[in-house]
Amino acid sequence: MLKIGHRGAKGYKPENTLASFAKAIELKVDAIELDVHNSSDGEIMVIHDTTINRTTTKTGFVSDYSASELKQLGIPTLEEVIQFVDKRAIINIEIKELSATPKVLQLIEKSVKEQDWKYNRFQISSFIWEALEEVSQYCHSNKIEISTGVLTEAAIEKALAFAIQIKAHSINPYFKLLNAENVTLLHSNGFKIYTWTVNTPEDLIFVKSLNVDGIISDFPDRI
Ligand code: G3P
Ligand code: CA
Repeated sequence: MLKIGHRGAKGYKPENTLASFAKAIELKVDAIELDVHNSSDGEIMVIHDTTINRTTTKTGFVSDYSASELKQLGIPTLEEVIQFVDKRAIINIEIKELSATPKVLQLIEKSVKEQDWKYNRFQISSFIWEALEEVSQYCHSNKIEISTGVLTEAAIEKALAFAIQIKAHSINPYFKLLNAENVTLLHSNGFKIYTWTVNTPEDLIFVKSLNVDGIISDFPDRI
């Protein structure tokens, strides 16, 4: 079962920062999960929200700032994070904005060609299923395999139908949607289940009892 650090190790360090990814690696995660948006100059920035209001000292949309301005506010680029992680963990990239998809794929290609990353050390997840469709078509055309994860917070059966359609690797449901029956259904269709965001000891016991394949937690050392 994969131990996946949510936004790095969000329970211990500011989310989606290099410090948070370092902490997750120190806690021996198998994978780190992070979120991406575009900067005004087309760089892929690692930040959860569409605005910088909650996590920095400034306000406004991520897309209104250049990569160098965002970096000064402590927001890393995806390229920096990939270099920093340096193959020590799988990276689960959650695409928060459809238009970021081609550049995310380019960065993965660059890492494989220049830094000896393997495609199977990347996963791409999204609530924007069109982005996953784009990844799947790209992989098919280029004969490569990057795992896709279908995120859902409401509809396991719809996610299953879509996962079958795009030949996804995993279904990533909100943990409260899970029960023994739907876990069996997803597994019998050949999908891994990576569930989020599971933080309390009771909730961790619950999802472990269901035999999920990965748990995404702010406190990855509790998994
Ligand atoms: O990838 C799982 C989880 O991160 C999805 O929700 O809002 O934390 O990005 P959110
Ligand atoms: Ca996320």
